[in-house]
Amino acid sequence: MPTLNAFYAQSGGVTSVINASAAGVIETARRHADRIGTVYAGRNGILGALAEDLIDTGLESAAAIAALRTTPAGAFGSCRYKLKSLEKNRREYERLIEVFKAHGIGYFFYNGGGDSADTCFKVSQLSQSMGYPLQAIHVPKTIDNDLPLTDCCPGFGSVAKYVAVSTLEASLDVRSMAATSTKVFVLEVMGRHAGWIAAAGGLAADHGIPVVILFPEIPFDQPAFLARVDALVKHHGYCTVVVSEGAHHPDGSFLAEQGSKDAFGHAQLGGAAPVVAQMVKEALGYKFHWAVADYLQRSARHIASAADARQAYELGQRAVELALEGKNAVMPTVERTSDSPYEYRIGSAPLDQVANAEKFMPRDYISADGYGISDKGRAYLLPLIQGEDYPAYRDGLPVYVTLQNHPVAKKLPAFEIAK
Ligand code: F6P
Repeated sequence: MPTLNAFYAQSGGVTSVINASAAGVIETARRHADRIGTVYAGRNGILGALAEDLIDTGLESAAAIAALRTTPAGAFGSCRYKLKSLEKNRREYERLIEVFKAHGIGYFFYNGGGDSADTCFKVSQLSQSMGYPLQAIHVPKTIDNDLPLTDCCPGFGSVAKYVAVSTLEASLDVRSMAATSTKVFVLEVMGRHAGWIAAAGGLAADHGIPVVILFPEIPFDQPAFLARVDALVKHHGYCTVVVSEGAHHPDGSFLAEQGSKDAFGHAQLGGAAPVVAQMVKEALGYKFHWAVADYLQRSARHIASAADARQAYELGQRAVELALEGKNAVMPTVERTSDSPYEYRIGSAPLDQVANAEKFMPRDYISADGYGISDKGRAYLLPLIQGEDYPAYRDGLPVYVTLQNHPVAKKLPAFEIAK
């Protein structure tokens, strides 16, 4: 069996544990040095492959790669870049194959969400049709937790933990001030069109916090929402609202939208918290504070979920094993077998069924009134936030690794990347 090199890249919005998947891929490939030569990482995702801007991870020490396990964000840079269809830009695909051929790459590992699964699928299909078969394996990742056919997505459990912890802590703050000052705290969280992240705020309710969640899955009903907030403030003296950035009016328009779109055509969301807070102030007169968790939530490696970090590594590891077993166009998945005790096995799913599909919160994970989580939702969420996996600390700050990211010498002429 000839030794082939591997290509690994990170794609889409990064997470606090995507580098743990990178460590899983690279360390597993190193353990199979008889089959896999060097792992080349794409600088800034697929753009690195198009530009032949490859990073030689073989020059990183074992300690540096191991440190990726506890380092947030994307160690090699990520991108939001959608490959055009074959009809629209065949040159891009030919270029990828040229780069892979030039560097002896036979394994393609793409670490991302639904859009990236689509890229990975297209690369696998086209490499076949262009006579240079690659084993293309997608490594799941997205804080939005919206990939189908897997119980959960690496990155989500840690964001869920951050949101649950932050909702609890900020609510205790509001509770202390409520007699004379703030009565409503509004926390905006990410998640795009799916309410998985917002749902995690509901876990604070188990600690006695009056929480109202605004899910994208439930169209916003302003009078009902305001009545709910008013009732909670009258009863408890305060309340916390967790609003998903994807919350929207019955006509589909978002509570807040930034007005720009990314390469995949997704609207840039954000700004729902001040909109909601202002609504509360105008209708009910309560003093408020609001916060947008934004990148704080997806980068918070210091409070990552141990369960999430472990799965991120395992899925990276399994991706390499699947490739070595001869699999192509698949994604390793988490298959939950028990909620309590939490048990799961790693399975796999065909990429054509993963690409471009979004998985939303099932209605029965949401409470009947639409403003909280149900017992089923809680049973789903709780295992995913279990355990702490603290990074090492020095001088009061976490110790995170910055790789050397040595470039691989180019062998091909430059290529102009389509805007
Ligand atoms: O897709 C993950 C995600 O974090 C979404 O929750 C969020 O809407 C989006 O990425 C933000 O993307 P960007 O960092 O490109 O603005």
